[in-house]
Amino acid sequence: MKDNTICIGDLANDEYKKYLTSENKVTLIQQNQELINAFESKDNQSIKDIIINIVEETFSEPSSSNIEGIADTVKILVENYAINPDVMELLYNNITAKDSTTSLHSINVMAMTLRFCYYAGGQFESEVETYALAGLLHDIGKTQISDDILKAPRRLTEEETQKMQEHPVIGYNILNSCKIDAKIANAAYQHHQKLDGSGYPKIKEEISKTAQVLGIIDCYEALTACRPYKDTKILSAALKMLRKNVDEGKLNKHIFKDFEDSLIRIRY
Ligand SMILES: [Fe+2]
Repeated sequence: MKDNTICIGDLANDEYKKYLTSENKVTLIQQNQELINAFESKDNQSIKDIIINIVEETFSEPSSSNIEGIADTVKILVENYAINPDVMELLYNNITAKDSTTSLHSINVMAMTLRFCYYAGGQFESEVETYALAGLLHDIGKTQISDDILKAPRRLTEEETQKMQEHPVIGYNILNSCKIDAKIANAAYQHHQKLDGSGYPKIKEEISKTAQVLGIIDCYEALTACRPYKDTKILSAALKMLRKNVDEGKLNKHIFKDFEDSLIRIRY
């Protein structure tokens, strides 16, 4: 049988070049300054508008400069969340995006990851910025998957599924070329991998804590948000499904417990 297992080190370092735009068309410095101003003036509508704009622009044309700029955006969000956690509650399921598929999912995952990190404390809290940025960028590889597949209102064919399952490797290649914490590229690469060896892509490395957290929050968001191909699951049904995965040894039970508890404080 063919061994499909790959190491991160096996990935071609130059591979990213075909995914990133060559020009820096978007400068985020000004938008980030506007975001700081909006936080200072407690202008919630502007906060939401600026964040969704930044994310949509970055996802529509990923370049190393706008990905590095979005790291500053997350830094601003984390700093303001520490002062006023309610601001992230404003974001979750309360924004309108032109393209809801990846941008909204990513913002939701980031918002839940932020809250999880502050709830769980310890290493999660001290690395909250890395976790939140990983939450926002974990699916950036999907920007290179065609809309026919991403938005298909039906089950994907085997070939389409294979294509879709390339997004962690594509995401890794995009993020690995940027001047951001290597843990973020690594988490994008591993977020669909499960502790029992199932999931994709097949890897030899141990799954990082960041990827384990994202794996849980990513699934929860996907199960509770509206998707074209399935009904919305209610919160308890989604948690039940995740708990089953924990019992099967696919997900980390301690992280899941903290995540579940973090949801009780403020229900999404
Ligand atoms: Fe994903």
